Amino acid sequence: MIWGILGIVGFLIGGFLFILMTDGRYFGKQLMYRVYNRIGPAAFGSRSEARDWQNLLTSLHLRGDEKILDVGTAVGDLPLTIAAQADFHGHVSGIDWSPRMMEAANVETEKRGLSARVDFRVVDVRQPLPFDGNSFDVIFYFGVIETLPNPQVLLEELSRLLKPYGILALSLYKGWLSWSAALDLKWYQTHLADLGRPLQEIQILPFRNSQDVVVARFG
Ligand SMILES: C[S@@+](CC[C@H](N)C(=O)[O-])C[C@H]1O[C@@H](n2cnc3c(N)ncnc32)[C@H](O)[C@@H]1O
Repeated sequence: MIWGILGIVGFLIGGFLFILMTDGRYFGKQLMYRVYNRIGPAAFGSRSEARDWQNLLTSLHLRGDEKILDVGTAVGDLPLTIAAQADFHGHVSGIDWSPRMMEAANVETEKRGLSARVDFRVVDVRQPLPFDGNSFDVIFYFGVIETLPNPQVLLEELSRLLKPYGILALSLYKGWLSWSAALDLKWYQTHLADLGRPLQEIQILPFRNSQDVVVARFG
């Protein structure tokens, strides 16, 4: 009896997650937008991943004066972690389509006194991004591109924003999530090489249980 109930609950949760992950491809992202905007501030705000972000930043060996963009930043954990580093004197922008999450990120920025180094704004990445070309030294995008109907369009848009010798760091899902995300390392290798700029190196860094990070360094 108990196993039957657990099976049904597992099936329902799995089905909901699958619909959420594939919403962008099949349902125009309405469901995903509402879920993120409604529960995002509480769900992302309660995570404690400071050490994961810190380890990732250490592995990237940034100089400290970069202009950085975080696409799909949620409540801004990554930009706030970077901006709080004592030796960072560049600038970080975080964008997300959820007004409620951007509001939470702005409140946190004020609270931590980091507004000189970081800014957040509401942007839907299905539109052209509101930045000039060659604006950023490093662009992160974790957990966004996988759900877009034409992910290579966003990749090309990010390449437009990236300065020469820039770095793109993007999430690579593992396990069943990689199947629902439908973008694997081969997809990235092919499309990163097709961006029309010199690709110097692709590196895979461990990050979360669910994700590694693909780091593409360009010439
Ligand atoms: C899986 S979460 C990842 C959050 C964060 N990057 C991280 O790795 O912890 C995906 C984020 O992308 C945002 N997002 C999804 N689709 C988007 C879109 N079309 N435009 C802008 N942001 C989007 C969501 O609101 C959410 O904050």
